[in-house]
Amino acid sequence: RKKVTMNTVRNLYEAGMPITMVTAHDFPSGLVADHAGVDLILVGDSLAMVGLGMEDTNELVLEDILHHSRAVARAAKSSFIICDLPMGSYEISPEHALTSSIKVIQQGRAHAVKLEGGTEMVPTIKRITSMGVPVLGHVGLTPQRQHSLGGFRVQGKTAESAARVLDDALAVQEAGCFAIVLEAVPTPVAELITKELKIPTIGIGAGNGCSGQVLVQIDMLGNFPPGRFLPKFVKTYENIFERSRTAIETYIDEVRSRVYPGPEHSYSINKNELTEFER
Ligand code: KIV
Ligand code: NA
Repeated sequence: RKKVTMNTVRNLYEAGMPITMVTAHDFPSGLVADHAGVDLILVGDSLAMVGLGMEDTNELVLEDILHHSRAVARAAKSSFIICDLPMGSYEISPEHALTSSIKVIQQGRAHAVKLEGGTEMVPTIKRITSMGVPVLGHVGLTPQRQHSLGGFRVQGKTAESAARVLDDALAVQEAGCFAIVLEAVPTPVAELITKELKIPTIGIGAGNGCSGQVLVQIDMLGNFPPGRFLPKFVKTYENIFERSRTAIETYIDEVRSRVYPGPEHSYSINKNELTEFER
């Protein structure tokens, strides 16, 4: 497969072809996403919750995600890799954000960064993109700001709030983002924003009218124990947790009953050598 670049993304967008993105957090999840042929791989800070068992994404620091991004980059040969800037790594100043972005490219080996926020992030996005680092925007529900949003809530449900999401999207577009993640906004609002923009929108919980879609891989593969809360927008395409649990249970049974390892998993020794050894 040909390497996906910003030009590929642009061409898909202009051809009206939906852009596909999924998260990856380590070497195996990067491999499978790349082999499946996804356009964009996001090393999202959802890593904190689904990959590291943290309470929320705010606990994750830059060094954590660099470590994971590097592993994903080793796996992904064709997909374009975008890495989240974790909370605390880009808000203080545009200079600070640029320093963090360079680390993401240089040490995380990603091709672009993603950061959350709208109008207030314009100088930061300008600074990063002017130095040749592509930036993916993220507006609507911005999980790093969950406390000021009153939790994980759908954004743009009133005319006023919808206008704010549109303003944010337009602002980060003008600042130089090559695309924008739209998270948890009503379908018609996301559709209208997509029409207003000249860059692709990648939706998550934003309906079917966006230029592309993104899902968290662990969630969409059902790689978690039963009973875990999942947002309404997650479609689970597999039941990896149950399948893995069953496989490990079978392994346990086979070890206990000495079915595993069989001859095909074991090494032999020449008979003469064995006789001599046994003497
Ligand atoms: O961290 C993440 O996985 C994300 C996506 C849900 C867009 O930001
Ligand atoms: Na994120």
